Amino acid sequence: MTIGILNGPNLNLLGTREPHIYGSGSLDDLIDELHLHFKEIEMLHLQSNHEGVLIDTLQKWDSETDGIILNPAAYTHTSIALADTVAAIETPVVEVHLSDVESREPFRKISYIRPHCAHVIFGKGFRGYHEAVRWLFERKVKNT
Ligand code: DQA
Repeated sequence: MTIGILNGPNLNLLGTREPHIYGSGSLDDLIDELHLHFKEIEMLHLQSNHEGVLIDTLQKWDSETDGIILNPAAYTHTSIALADTVAAIETPVVEVHLSDVESREPFRKISYIRPHCAHVIFGKGFRGYHEAVRWLFERKVKNT
């Protein structure tokens, strides 16, 4: 099984970026942790600050993965282009946010992506990514 982990803008700053909201672990810590916990699952990872790169990656991973964990970061609340891509691809996408987007500023409650996602997890920090891997794994097991 192959899972793609795609992180959007400013998530490369994890660890130093508003740690009271996003925690003190870095993006490398998160990816290392996931590889360690899910040794049997192949994982692709990419972080980009650029909307077009995120779109290209989703399109590419559609045929290369059994599921994608997507944290679109601020593009969640703005990007119809990214939402159209998630709607267009076949591989299931789980929308993940580290913070509790429902209890922050009102604009963070809006997600253009969510209606096209198979599942959504937010407010659980790094644990949310673990939960998303397990969710995609169990979905695959059920469907095979
Ligand atoms: C985020 C929440 C977004 O609102 C914000 O723009 C981010 C990170 C999260 O993981 O909590 O950059 O997606």
